[in-house]
Amino acid sequence: RDFVIGDTDPRLFGAFVEHLGRCVYGGVFEPGHPTADARGFRTDVLALVRELGPTIIRYPGGNFVSGYNWEDGVGPVADRPARLDLAWLSTEPNAFGTNEFVDWCRAAGVEPMLAVNLGTRDGDAARNLVEYCNHPGGSAWSDMRIRHGWPEPHGVRFWCLGNEADGPWQMEHRTAREYGRKAAEAAKMMRWIDPSIELAACGSSGRNMATYGAWEDEVLEHTFDHVEHLSLHHYFTNYRDDAAAYLASPDVMDQFIEEVVAVADGVAARRRSGKRIMLSFDEWNIWYRTRDDGGRPRERWQVAPPLLEEVYTMEDALVIGGACISLLNHADRVRTACLAQLVNAIAPIMTETGGPAWRQTIFWPFAQMSRLGRGSVLRARVRSDAYRAACHDRRGAQDLVFPVEAPYLKAAVVADARGVTLFLLNRHLAERMSVSVEARGFGALAATEAFQLHHHDLKARNDRNEPLRVRPTPLGSVRAGGGAVSLDLEPASWNVVRLEG
Ligand code: AHR
Repeated sequence: RDFVIGDTDPRLFGAFVEHLGRCVYGGVFEPGHPTADARGFRTDVLALVRELGPTIIRYPGGNFVSGYNWEDGVGPVADRPARLDLAWLSTEPNAFGTNEFVDWCRAAGVEPMLAVNLGTRDGDAARNLVEYCNHPGGSAWSDMRIRHGWPEPHGVRFWCLGNEADGPWQMEHRTAREYGRKAAEAAKMMRWIDPSIELAACGSSGRNMATYGAWEDEVLEHTFDHVEHLSLHHYFTNYRDDAAAYLASPDVMDQFIEEVVAVADGVAARRRSGKRIMLSFDEWNIWYRTRDDGGRPRERWQVAPPLLEEVYTMEDALVIGGACISLLNHADRVRTACLAQLVNAIAPIMTETGGPAWRQTIFWPFAQMSRLGRGSVLRARVRSDAYRAACHDRRGAQDLVFPVEAPYLKAAVVADARGVTLFLLNRHLAERMSVSVEARGFGALAATEAFQLHHHDLKARNDRNEPLRVRPTPLGSVRAGGGAVSLDLEPASWNVVRLEG
């Protein structure tokens, strides 16, 4: 009970809404849908979002933000322009913008996180957006918000300084020095408008980037005094259809986090600074099936075409469970994280246009982490057999291999005032696992909730017709007595056990 890694920041359980495919239009926003409210928000989606439990939502991109004029998305809808979006080669109608997003966040009970365009635009547009959103009134931009119908400031606390500036696919991709300088100047002005904001600079868009490491170092060299957070992005892949390596790949996320912490602390050391940069893992998920040509559509300039609509499997849910464990176990430095994304585009929630909404397999581990992962993460000492895995990824057409030694049991333990929650991933594909837990410092514990996510077919999916094919079921094997707990886990299973005194 005494060995605490860190307390989970509520923003660790975030998600992401980008103007991408059917995430906004036909996802969170579909005027005319039978469940839509007067503002066009789908209430069936809102209900699933509340069940999923994200705490903060990043918006409006992603790649999209690097070409976005935020002014296009405010004011009377009839006056808003349609624009060609070069990120997703789509037409953006701008019927949903910053104010609608903030209203939607209030309806969903989540905090808004905004990204500013540091691709085609600069610090001037960014500081104007902070003024528009957060300044109470009496200035041109804040008065414009009031005229637009939002008399109260939005009070957006968390701001991302652009997106994936290291990626050649980004509009106005930059070198680390160019981006670092631009981000530092934008940050300075944004904070002069509102000193209460928190800022995240762009780290690497993946551990597979050729500039990884050097990028973080140079960006922080410029931005260290101006930001609280540095971003990380990671998308798991299974191009080789190698289940054992795929289930080991969350351990690569652990390495990624620990390396970025080391680089950030190295920059602090050079400056003899006690400041610690926190990590914002503001894009993470699985994305590879719909990644050809960067996910862009064949037919250009459609409004809200179905893009990046990965349908996730049981195996994917296990990888997401493993990633949840990785994030929890770094609660001391990863303060913010966003599952990318929320609806339809690489998402835990899917909708049929005009039809129902349903939960993907990956919905479950995220929802359980968000509900039961609040508290102090304990440094669990896990003794388990391990296996060697060659985790695989790509950099463009190039194959990359990341070797790991993966314990079959991957675990996170979160304690709060009433008890403790165990998150347990059995990565053995064929064997059940008997687990004994020695939980000292809690007194006698009894299981109050225990679930497993397991399906004999690792490729099983949910879909519109069978939306609950993969879902958590009770885990009956928990035996608790005193401070000792034992349980049996199915092969290839995600398990959550809540124990209280
Ligand atoms: O989430 C999909 C895309 O992945 C985002 O727009 C971008 O930031 C990343 O490359």
